[in-house]
Amino acid sequence: MIKLCCNYVDEAVIGCENGLNIKQEFENYKDRIANIISDLNKRKDKPGQWLQWMNLGYSEETVWYVKEYASMVQGRFENILVLGIGGSALGGLAVTEALLKPYWNLLTEEQREGLPRIFFLDNIDPDTMTGLLNMLDLSKTLVNVITKSGSTAETMSQFMIVKNILEQELGSNYRYNIVATTDKRTGVLRQIAEQEGYKTFVVPDDVGGRFSVFSAVGLLPFALVGLDIDEMVNGIKDMDLALKNTDINENIAAQNALIHYLLDTQKGKNMSVMMPYSSRLKYVSDWFVQLWAESLGKSDYVGPTPIKALGATDQHSQIQLYNEGPNNKVINFIRVDEFDNTLEIPNIFEYTGIGYLGGKSVNRLLNAEADSTRVALTDNKRPVVTITLDKINGYNLAQLLYMLEVQTAITGELYGIDAFNQPGVEQAKNYTYALMGRAGYEESAQELERKMAAV
Ligand code: PA5
Repeated sequence: MIKLCCNYVDEAVIGCENGLNIKQEFENYKDRIANIISDLNKRKDKPGQWLQWMNLGYSEETVWYVKEYASMVQGRFENILVLGIGGSALGGLAVTEALLKPYWNLLTEEQREGLPRIFFLDNIDPDTMTGLLNMLDLSKTLVNVITKSGSTAETMSQFMIVKNILEQELGSNYRYNIVATTDKRTGVLRQIAEQEGYKTFVVPDDVGGRFSVFSAVGLLPFALVGLDIDEMVNGIKDMDLALKNTDINENIAAQNALIHYLLDTQKGKNMSVMMPYSSRLKYVSDWFVQLWAESLGKSDYVGPTPIKALGATDQHSQIQLYNEGPNNKVINFIRVDEFDNTLEIPNIFEYTGIGYLGGKSVNRLLNAEADSTRVALTDNKRPVVTITLDKINGYNLAQLLYMLEVQTAITGELYGIDAFNQPGVEQAKNYTYALMGRAGYEESAQELERKMAAV
């Protein structure tokens, strides 16, 4: 179960200049929010609305095919290598980091219960790529290449390198080491997959990369490393039901969307910090940053800027700024009530400065730090929202990610922008094509060269 606490953004706690009269604002926006929620739910099945991600919890067919393929290849590969970038990688990273045993890739095969290690190659750094390729035995690796467009330069260049090595090592059998996740009909990867006979999965129509974690984009890698995808699907379905409630007082995605929107537009809080107090949730921040940035950073509106942080680590890095620097941020804490392990600190020193730690648990220390940091921030009149997970498991994590997706969609509606396109990303992609000599981009290439030479 997940809960949202927004008491610490209330003007009763942090004052009128920085806080909101929550009860009053929920009342003021009651009808607008109800309209947004029912409109999103009405539009979600219409082609071209980019809202099909709201149906992913009900895609029994995908779950079935993913599980069937995962069980078919089980035991055949030592490693899974995911090639993808942005929305094609971040959800996978966030979920596997949160749900697999910590340091999964360093565990023995026995400790992993025979399940493969998993690597995400989400950049094209020649040094790290070479390092990974030197370390992995590709003949014992299943490569899941994920790209909706089928032509993203980073992913496809990785794929071309990996495919070449595989073919040299395995001959025509190399194709059994590749599974492609891409658009149903269009794109170069789809053409290659059909020509070469790869197993494929589909990135559904009207699901953008950053909303695709619960399509085959995420579900396939999750199933391949033995995660319980039924548990995740149950979490999404239950959260979806809860978020269909048009009453803002009962809908946590709508509450957090409105809070962020009002704090930005009325109180100048145009930055949103995502700060889980759990290392396992570290990549949830990365995933959220992309979701929030690509969805809400649009040309007619500047911001809100998302920032990733980790508690307690970043208390020793960023909190000074958040406590005393510009008061222009909403800080989102994610707090976990019950960790899988309880780690006691032994009572071995009597020094006043550290003796008090002995006999307490690290669990208690981490949550005490979350609570005390929250109070310190609100002492300084900084708004803090807290999302609490009773435990980290597939059900709660899926609820959290789906809630944040719906929150993003509602926030986009409040700003009156299209949360589902990304023209700013496309523009840079096109410039790259021009610089790298792709046919059809000759004019852009000349223009770019002129511009670069002039600086
Ligand atoms: O959210 C998005 O749409 C983007 O971040 C894409 O996921 C990213 O650009 C990768 O695109 P593709 O899946 O087409 O390779």
